[in-house]
Amino acid sequence: MAKRSLGIGFIGAGFMNRFHVASLAGVRDCEVAGVFSQTHANAQSLAATARDLGVGEPAVHGSITDLVADPNVDALWIATTNDSRIAVVEEIVDAVRSGKGELIGVACEKPLARNLAEARRMVELIESTPLLHGYLENQVFEPAITRGKEIIWRRAVPLAGRPYLARAAEEHSGPHMPWFWSGERQGGGVLNDMLCHSYEAGRYLLTAPGEARTTLQVEQVNAQIASLKWTRPEYVELLKEMSGGKVDYGRTPSEDFARAAVSLRAPGGEHLLVEATTSWSFVGPALRLRAELLGPEYAMQVDSLSTDLSVFLGRKIRGAAGEDLVEKQNAEQGLMPVIADEPGVYGYTAENRHMVQSFLAGRMPDETWHDGLAVTEVLMACYKSAEEGRTIAFPTELGDFVPAVAQGKWTAGR
Ligand SMILES: NC(=O)c1ccc[n+]([C@@H]2O[C@H](COP(=O)([O-])OP(=O)(O)OC[C@H]3O[C@@H](n4cnc5c(N)ncnc54)[C@H](O)[C@@H]3O)[C@@H](O)[C@H]2O)c1
Repeated sequence: MAKRSLGIGFIGAGFMNRFHVASLAGVRDCEVAGVFSQTHANAQSLAATARDLGVGEPAVHGSITDLVADPNVDALWIATTNDSRIAVVEEIVDAVRSGKGELIGVACEKPLARNLAEARRMVELIESTPLLHGYLENQVFEPAITRGKEIIWRRAVPLAGRPYLARAAEEHSGPHMPWFWSGERQGGGVLNDMLCHSYEAGRYLLTAPGEARTTLQVEQVNAQIASLKWTRPEYVELLKEMSGGKVDYGRTPSEDFARAAVSLRAPGGEHLLVEATTSWSFVGPALRLRAELLGPEYAMQVDSLSTDLSVFLGRKIRGAAGEDLVEKQNAEQGLMPVIADEPGVYGYTAENRHMVQSFLAGRMPDETWHDGLAVTEVLMACYKSAEEGRTIAFPTELGDFVPAVAQGKWTAGR
């Protein structure tokens, strides 16, 4: 008989899996069954959060193999550091192929890997098993984006023709953990970390409902990267201090700004464009996500900081710095936007609902590791374009290309 509830095993117990566990309060037919993290204390704390939220009574395991072997675990969610992807998936695949446990599927956070060779290896590994695979790109599940897309494609496109331009931007003041700032560990800077979201959100908006994402052919990529803020001497010092000496942008910087224009060809021959921009040098109230879709007679727009709730905290209200109002919050006073349901607004709830229901039905999710691979290919073309100062025409072979930023060889134009 088909399973009615999915037991999820979480690998990694950091920022992202906390969001995933919180979102499960709004997802039916699943529970947190197990947790494994390199840091045992974090795994214990994530398990306690799941219990407090009433979304499971997870066992804390000592290894990935033990997690796979847990009979209550049916699927895995990977949210570990980007440099651990291959080792994590190799252990999962070994455990499954040697019959240590039975799984239905594996969901993996963005970016799928640090570069194209690693992304190809990820797909090869998962396809050496019968497992279903989901790529966790939350922005294509954001309710504002999915609802906007649905309205545009239903009401406007049949009368005026398909949309031609998608714009997407993600900006904040910088990541929360030192490894994100390390080009080598993360795979790059803000381009690898966040343009993966913006490009995929744009590609999703431009794709007709029911049309495979692969029907949009990439024709050319033009991109630019820069360090606008974090190589200024005072911020080099601040970053050293914040990272306990682990990150030195005086020696090996990563980009804190990136923009890309990706030209695509639709099945009917129309020329389409995704224009994406991302930044770790944006200081506003908090994380800002924007998306637009434009066509011959219409447009839609989403802005995560145009919230329906804001609070004003006067000068006598002083408190410790926190992220209790919104992710990557930069202030605790004045007129502040508040997102009342962050897992919902950012798309995690709908994303996890989709992954859970797909795995339970034995169906491949709408967003798979092949999408993660396609995104990685475009990101690598973006780095190549930025490094060589030219447009990269597709098809192109980027096989072993590793961005200079990820090799510690980028000079930030100095
Ligand atoms: N979708 C989004 O908007 C979004 C937001 C943040 C992070 N992410 C992605 O999620 C992933 C994790 O990011 P984070 O912010 O949670 O980072 P984090 O540093 O807060 O947490 C990473 C966790 O992974 C654990 N870990 C590292 N290597 C491991 C291994 N080999 N086995 C088991 N556990 C291991 C660490 O101990 C830690 O608990 C990254 O790939 C990141 O790109 C996505």
